[in-house]
Amino acid sequence: MVAKIIDGKELSKKILEDVKKKIQQNNQKPGLAIVLVGNNPASEIYVGLKEKKSKELGINCERYDLDELISEEELLNRVDELNQKKDIHGIVVQLPLPQHINDELVVNSVLPHKDVDGFTPVNQGNLVNDNNMLVPATARACIELIKSTGTEIKGKNAVIIGRSKIVGKPVFLLLLQENATATICHSKTKNIAKHTKNADILIAACGVPKLVKKDMVKEGAIVIDVGINRTDEGIVGDVDYENVKEVAGHITPVPGGVGPMTIALLLDNILQAMELHK
Ligand SMILES: NC(=O)c1ccc[n+]([C@@H]2O[C@H](COP(=O)([O-])OP(=O)(O)OC[C@H]3O[C@@H](n4cnc5c(N)ncnc54)[C@H](OP(=O)(O)O)[C@@H]3O)[C@@H](O)[C@H]2O)c1
Repeated sequence: MVAKIIDGKELSKKILEDVKKKIQQNNQKPGLAIVLVGNNPASEIYVGLKEKKSKELGINCERYDLDELISEEELLNRVDELNQKKDIHGIVVQLPLPQHINDELVVNSVLPHKDVDGFTPVNQGNLVNDNNMLVPATARACIELIKSTGTEIKGKNAVIIGRSKIVGKPVFLLLLQENATATICHSKTKNIAKHTKNADILIAACGVPKLVKKDMVKEGAIVIDVGINRTDEGIVGDVDYENVKEVAGHITPVPGGVGPMTIALLLDNILQAMELHK
């Protein structure tokens, strides 16, 4: 079997068109504030992309490039100013923050209805309670990519590798909401292959280049690769793509899979945040 490639780039275009149309129909433009602290090269690329895409869609994007040495208190004050701004509907604090700043404290200071990343305790708690408000875009991306294959999620065995609060846990909760039987593996899991071989749906979100090998994958499985790893051979995912695609039924490439869908759904979250302001 050779897997069908799930084209995240193409799928994301449809979502972006839809967001653009909705913005054009609105009489108020959504406002997004992106806060970037320091000069982390990867973060600069991500922020640049979010800024470019949001401007293309007609979102008012305000970018705040702050000095690496900014104090935690000053950063919290800046976020609070953005929380008060009426024309800002969504706030993204780009992670990671410099070591002297407590990431969690800053992320949690974003007002829940402006938290378009879905990282605050209120939004995470809502997800646990099946009362979704703003859901992390990467987790939404995984679900949309699975659905795009036409496969019903209900009743399937889904295995996620990775338990971060940004990806693994929210994907797990969304899969449960879709009535999958979901399992999370992590760095302390013994014999990961025992779990993954049983997976009709396998989501790799561990940040380990090519961790998922061909012999770990069930024939015909849907494989979603969240990983973005910079290696000597360029950017690779958490899945050994070239070999795994010989056994999987569907697979996402890296790049061109989860990445573009994450950006598109982040921008969709801004529309949802705008609705929450009404
Ligand atoms: N495409 C996108 O838009 C997008 C968005 C976000 C993240 N990413 C990428 O997705 C990957 C994961 O990101 P993240 O923020 O979730 O990472 P993270 O916070 O570092 O979490 C990684 C998770 O993987 C687990 N893990 C690490 N090594 C493992 C191993 N050898 N076997 C099994 N599990 C292992 C860790 O287990 P423990 O909990 O036990 O430590 C942890 O739960 C990264 O490559 C990141 O760049 C992509």
